[in-house]
Amino acid sequence: MQRYAEVRRAYQRIGIRASRYDGMMTNSSMLGRLALRLFWGLPEENYRKYIAQAFSGIPAGFDGRMLEVPVGTGALSLPVYCDLPGADITCLDFSQEMLAKARERAVAMDLFRLKFLAGDVGQLPFVDNSFDLVLSINGFHAFPDKPSAFRETWRVLQKNGIFTGCVYISGQNVVTDLFVKTFCSYRGYFTPPFDNLDSLQEKLRLLYKDVQVTNIGSFACFKCQK
Ligand SMILES: C[S@@+](CC[C@H](N)C(=O)[O-])C[C@H]1O[C@@H](n2cnc3c(N)ncnc32)[C@H](O)[C@@H]1O
Repeated sequence: MQRYAEVRRAYQRIGIRASRYDGMMTNSSMLGRLALRLFWGLPEENYRKYIAQAFSGIPAGFDGRMLEVPVGTGALSLPVYCDLPGADITCLDFSQEMLAKARERAVAMDLFRLKFLAGDVGQLPFVDNSFDLVLSINGFHAFPDKPSAFRETWRVLQKNGIFTGCVYISGQNVVTDLFVKTFCSYRGYFTPPFDNLDSLQEKLRLLYKDVQVTNIGSFACFKCQK
């Protein structure tokens, strides 16, 4: 519970001053580009591959029910939703401040059909089999209770549904791992323990079929089917 409060406070700070965070996530500010290169192993070309791969699990023209958790400020996912006019999309996050930025962005982009919801990935407020696709971009390294997050995202997905997204993995780059430990985890942005490439694949294979995991920089992009 204490960790939940720390994580909430951490993302409250980010949500209030989101432009710096968005600049890094979208590779659009000078500082952000530097951080992506130095700390995350994502120079320009790798960054583009990482984004393309992270969203590649969403079928073109997808028009089913999708849950995105966590949506954060929506800087990465909302542009993708412009190309999915038929999809029924619910965006969940437990930080009201991050959600507020995502809502503002949706209005600015005329994405009025998106639903936004505050909640905990470890206790999703949906009945079993509610979604055809669950997207999780940079979520699992932040979630304080990872077993519940894996269990709940699986539970709300219907049979043959797609689970896809990306996550930080340890063991790829010593600089990244040190930065995660001394800054991200310390400040509450990330919560250990973190999977490495092998343990992530193993975990996904226990729950899903057709598991595909691609490593780019210090991230793993994954797609699999329930
Ligand atoms: C690193 S951000 C990623 C946001 C977004 N997907 C992106 O890539 O920009 C992590 C997000 O996870 C959210 N979060 C952390 N713990 C959560 C939980 N238990 N349930 C739902 N969201 C959570 C935080 O509020 C934050 O917005």
